[in-house]
Amino acid sequence: MDIERRTPLAIDPDSLRERWKTRRDRSGVWRFREFLPFDEDASVVSLGEGNTPLYDAPRSADYCRLSQLKLKHQGCNPTGSFKDTGMTVAVTQARKLGARLVVCASTGNTAASLAAYAARADLQCAIIVPAGQVSHAKLAQALDYGARVIEIDGNFDASMNVIRELAEDESIYLVNSINPFRIEGQKTVAFELAEQLEWRVPDHLVLPGGNLGNSSAFGKGFRELLSSGLIARQPKITVVQAEGAAPFARFYSDEEHTEFVNEEHPKTLASAIKIGAPVSWQKAWRAVSETGGSVITVTEQEIADAKAVIGRDGIGCEPASATTVAGIRKLGIKENESVVAVLTGHVLKDTDYVIKYHNQSLTDPDGRKIESRFANSPIRVAASADAIREVL
Ligand code: F0G
Repeated sequence: MDIERRTPLAIDPDSLRERWKTRRDRSGVWRFREFLPFDEDASVVSLGEGNTPLYDAPRSADYCRLSQLKLKHQGCNPTGSFKDTGMTVAVTQARKLGARLVVCASTGNTAASLAAYAARADLQCAIIVPAGQVSHAKLAQALDYGARVIEIDGNFDASMNVIRELAEDESIYLVNSINPFRIEGQKTVAFELAEQLEWRVPDHLVLPGGNLGNSSAFGKGFRELLSSGLIARQPKITVVQAEGAAPFARFYSDEEHTEFVNEEHPKTLASAIKIGAPVSWQKAWRAVSETGGSVITVTEQEIADAKAVIGRDGIGCEPASATTVAGIRKLGIKENESVVAVLTGHVLKDTDYVIKYHNQSLTDPDGRKIESRFANSPIRVAASADAIREVL
């Protein structure tokens, strides 16, 4: 499936910028509809996604030895993750096609997002997830939004294989990020970010990599912005993977870049990116290589510490998102270079992890203890003002 883009050749970049500035859509995705493959009168399925904040994060910047670091918080979307920006477009397309059933395989966030948008569109929805490997919060969302939740014995990659086979039936519509409409929606985050930075893109854009749809989407977004004259250059796109689930990083490190080898047994506490066979690696590779970016890995310890630091900025995120700050610290970026990290999911997506970290009981997938260097453990005292005064 490829999407024909209707380049709005009749409109010059300045008029487009002005039009978007004054457009008061609730959806931060459909604001940029000149770049989406739909007619003006499309019947859109939206929950008011996009328009997410770009935060200054001074403690995280310090931690990364940078003078400034900005965090684009995609966890502020309606279901708490970046998936909503793609799902609004994919489910709009599903409804247009008259799909009977919309489906996805998921580590949790795609499932929560699809379940919500399918409910809004009044479409039947089924999600396939690896049993026992999805955070409670994400599972709870999918259940509450009324999706059929099917748990399989196997990991995300096995779920993905099963669902691709199911989707050979034409009445079943698959909305994983191999679906180009998902990418179309997610690419608008590059537009929104460029607009927030007054059309001057940062030197580096850093994001977590799992199935690699998001990296592909940012690559496409910046490419289109550049070719339309809306920006003057692209940021270097760097993808960060957890050490135990890093087939893309291995591919990058191999100087020949010839063979992509899947990771058969991916392991990481960042369950959102516990993926060994990313379906969109080719498109993500294009984004990284075209922009002169890189692909790196971070350890479980580094993810846990970076996550706690992001929390101290009053922002917070889920473990997968914290790979970005952990990665930036390792990248050796010059102090005065501009960097934006994409936080992909909300801090409340995986509270078990947070509580264990602060209670100093977090262990990695091999059972090794993770040091809680930024622990903030609860303090238990008697129910008296004196006892509380003593600890304050
Ligand atoms: N961060 C979070 C919070 C995610 O949920 C995901 C992917 C990623 C990063 C990686 O993005 O796959 O586009 O490279 N979650 C998918 C899901 C796989 O099913 O929710 P990617």
